[in-house]
Amino acid sequence: MSLHGACLVLLVWITSCRLSSGEILKVRPLIVGEQLLWLNHNQGEIYSYRIPIMAATSRGSLLALAEARKASSSDAGAKFIALRRSTDKGRTWTPTKFLVNDGEVLDGLNLGAVIVDEQKDLVFVMYTLCGHHYDCLISSVMLIQTSDDGVSWSAPRNISEQVGTQMFMPGPGYGIQKRFEPKKGRLIVCGHGTLPRDGVYCLLSDDHGVKWRFGGSMRGIPYGQPKKRGDFTPDESQPFELPDGSVIVNSRNQNFYHCNCRVIMQSFDASETYPLDYLKFDEKLVDPAVAASAMFKNGVVFFTNPATPTKRINMTLQWSYDNGTTWQPTRLEIWRGPSAYSSLTMMERNTDDLRFIYLIYEKGYKDPYESISFVRIHLYGGLL
Ligand SMILES: *[C@@H]1O[C@H](CO)[C@@H](O)[C@H](O)[C@H]1NC(C)=O
Ligand SMILES: *[C@@H]1O[C@H](CO)[C@@H](O)[C@H](O)[C@H]1NC(C)=O
Ligand SMILES: *[C@@H]1O[C@H](CO)[C@@H](O)[C@H](O)[C@H]1NC(C)=O
Repeated sequence: MSLHGACLVLLVWITSCRLSSGEILKVRPLIVGEQLLWLNHNQGEIYSYRIPIMAATSRGSLLALAEARKASSSDAGAKFIALRRSTDKGRTWTPTKFLVNDGEVLDGLNLGAVIVDEQKDLVFVMYTLCGHHYDCLISSVMLIQTSDDGVSWSAPRNISEQVGTQMFMPGPGYGIQKRFEPKKGRLIVCGHGTLPRDGVYCLLSDDHGVKWRFGGSMRGIPYGQPKKRGDFTPDESQPFELPDGSVIVNSRNQNFYHCNCRVIMQSFDASETYPLDYLKFDEKLVDPAVAASAMFKNGVVFFTNPATPTKRINMTLQWSYDNGTTWQPTRLEIWRGPSAYSSLTMMERNTDDLRFIYLIYEKGYKDPYESISFVRIHLYGGLL
């Protein structure tokens, strides 16, 4: 039996699965299943589905969510939040259920982040109303939650009553619950603002989603002024936690400051602050300015995006064995054609879960917004 095999078979605590030298178990990702969850017909009651996000619940179900745009492909416009749920790790899915209906407004809801509170077995979905100020002046951050694994959902709660009505758009992607100190148990949702409050912001909750407040931020430069190409505008964001308890945020670089690549920031105080000293531009993560995904699992950082400097094509999975400092030369091509937003998730309940990660992304043949696809990825080439 290989050392890798021994590690998996003898595994008792998933997080302790390391080779005896302390070396990380090397991965060989392989797509083992793919299914289109939503098809865009660009007509009818739902014009298009966009902005896919996903979470694995503490009971081991997968929740796939997207904006169901009613009348057009516009980022504004009226929408539903669409949900499909899988209790067999993505092999079969429930029909689409609509969780929220924003009516017939011109500037409707935008997704959003999905946050799993493993301590309390809760799942939250956070979204924004009136994010573009088309026919409305006041943005609101809203929250729905489930305590039965995504079967039934609460009525929307307006958390702008706590955090104010400046525009804040969460994600798109997942929020995290701190697993390590400092502030184990804290919920963290990062997203972006807009003029006059542009940049990345994170909302924090220390009481399982009851009360929220703004924590750390990384503001745009010039702050609060209209931007042009080359300005610093960190935008759509995905946080994840490293085992030392620090939080990395991987962000869209909207105006290509320094490079056509990702903005990386790091917090050592549970997302209260993101020191400038730790702001980086990861030139290896070439990016056309898009919502991408990043995730830490069992010693490995995973990253997905359309890995090109200007075009939304070539959805690619990359991985790093040193916390995102360097990336492995081998990559997994998910889809060479048009592809845009993506979001990763995983489970860590048993040894079988160690083998898989899951991706949801926007996929098409002529343009990336033809469908939303779900992919199961085996991390060990289907061998273990
Ligand atoms: C949410 O609360 C804010 C602050 O109280 C308020 O201005 C806004 O209208 C509320 N939004 C909704 C959709 O009720
Ligand atoms: C997309 O990926 C293919 C194969 O990996 C590569 O040949 C091509 O140059 C890539 N396109 C861009 C624009 O990077
Ligand atoms: C990655 O970060 C962890 C702490 O989160 C640390 O223990 C480990 O040594 C780091 N790995 C590398 C290769 O830098």
